[in-house]
Amino acid sequence: MVTNLAQYSASFMETVLSRRSVMPKRLCAPGPSNKEIQVMVDAALTAPDHNQLTPWRLVLVSEEKRDHLARAFIHGKIRRWGEVSEDEKTIELDKAHAVPVMLALISDFKFDEPEVPLEEQYIAIGAAVQNILLCAHASGYGAIILSGNRVHDREVRDFLSVPDDQHLLGFVCMGSIKERPKDVTRRQHTDVLRIL
Ligand SMILES: Cc1cc2nc3c(=O)[nH]c(=O)nc-3n(C[C@H](O)[C@H](O)[C@H](O)COP(=O)(O)O)c2cc1C
Repeated sequence: MVTNLAQYSASFMETVLSRRSVMPKRLCAPGPSNKEIQVMVDAALTAPDHNQLTPWRLVLVSEEKRDHLARAFIHGKIRRWGEVSEDEKTIELDKAHAVPVMLALISDFKFDEPEVPLEEQYIAIGAAVQNILLCAHASGYGAIILSGNRVHDREVRDFLSVPDDQHLLGFVCMGSIKERPKDVTRRQHTDVLRIL
């Protein structure tokens, strides 16, 4: 039993150490099923969270709603840029349809919690989203969280029903990997760990 646990632990560490973000252009269908997504969200709910505030929520943007999301992207860009070419509109449409799974990550801060300042709530959100990214990686999918200017656009926030006291923090994009990301050199523990 102990041996099995040790093996499980070793493969878990390999999974964590090999996680990479995968850009939408390298992703394709199929993405994780709703059932797989539910498990990922359950994993997010195990993340450290002082006083169990769950200072975040997710919106799964279904394929049927992607045209609507694209319109919000386009209208946000028109407001920021003044005008938008047909090519730019196509880019936004493509962005809204680029990946099989799009999960909007939204803060749900609890402002009347003196024991849990906002910085702790941000950490809880980061830990939750990392669990989702790790689950996707462990299941063989590619995933990445992306924000960009669009997360501040009123049109996009309205589409996702994000009130003024919440942030749209990004979109967790997931799918099958059609092209692996290029190799990356990670910083080493010696860069960030000091032993006193
Ligand atoms: C909240 C959040 C938003 C992000 N938004 C973007 C983005 O808009 N564009 C981008 O290129 N990377 C963005 N990133 C970084 C990528 O998600 C990813 O971490 C980065 O490409 C490095 O890849 P790695 O996770 O494999 O180290 C964001 C990261 C976080 C945590």
